Amino acid sequence: MSFPTHRPRRLRRTEALRTLVRETRLSAHSLVYPLFVCPGANVQKEIKSMPGNFRWSVDRLVEECRVASDAGVPAVILFGIPEKKDEVASGAYDPEGIVQQAVRALKKALPNLIVICDLCLCEYTSHGHCGVVRGNEIDNDSTLDLLAKTAVAQAEAGADIVAPSDMMDGRVARIRAALDARGFSQISILAYSAKYASGFYGPFREAADSTPQFGDRRSHQMDPANQREALREIALDIEEGADIIMIKPALPYLDVIALARQEFEVPIAAYQVSGEFSLIEAAGRLGWIDRERIILETLTAIRRAGADIILTYFAKEVAPKLA
Ligand code: PBG
Repeated sequence: MSFPTHRPRRLRRTEALRTLVRETRLSAHSLVYPLFVCPGANVQKEIKSMPGNFRWSVDRLVEECRVASDAGVPAVILFGIPEKKDEVASGAYDPEGIVQQAVRALKKALPNLIVICDLCLCEYTSHGHCGVVRGNEIDNDSTLDLLAKTAVAQAEAGADIVAPSDMMDGRVARIRAALDARGFSQISILAYSAKYASGFYGPFREAADSTPQFGDRRSHQMDPANQREALREIALDIEEGADIIMIKPALPYLDVIALARQEFEVPIAAYQVSGEFSLIEAAGRLGWIDRERIILETLTAIRRAGADIILTYFAKEVAPKLA
């Protein structure tokens, strides 16, 4: 039966009715706030292409995390900008590396804040690639040893979750084995499983100073045209021991999030990446869009598609607005 018996507008009549029948609810509990940490003291340096985001020294990072935590954000993910970069990414696994220092300070000051460490070499290599370079290629298997070492250093510093974003084959299994062997079987792995070779990472690379010096990341990150391959990557990561899987970027890949939600039982994270942030921010500043409204609309869409956890540069701002 249809009109006039059925009138969908009846339930849209008032805000109270709309709220009552709302299918998707955003919650601050599912937000993760990405932050960049750099050496020094009292540093808060704005990232030009990501206004409102900064490179923080450890002391200032702790304060920023306190504000975010008080606003209701339960978790942060850290990216490091080391003092020096080299061919083998020493800064990534140095026990005194910048992220390790930050984790220790955060765990001391804010023990209840969930600290996730992004796990990749590209912020620490002089060439900006995510692994060991041999000739013109990124060598998969020798990179795994460095990733495993980095995971252990992050866990030793006190990370709750390590998040490999490198897209090397077999890294989740290697990281799991290394963590377990060192007594860190309780530390979770959030795998960037379906990470696409995306133009949306542009502003991040300015923030982390991690643009590859030659070539690109297409030999390891996924082709934006592929959907079935994402399911295969996710299945492999779960088999290797991933506790949470991630799809990245978020908005251009809602179909992948929705499919993964149907296929897998593990928690799913989605990353609203730097370029997604900057598009909204820039158009908002120009007065071309209603920025606050679009932030909530995009986050709702990501949740509606099936993400349990959302990494977003808007986390601190939106958390207090969400119940
Ligand atoms: C590290 C990494 C990147 C991002 C997260 N982890 C950059 C890249 O792969 O080039 C991008 C995050 C963003 O754009 O916000 N490999």
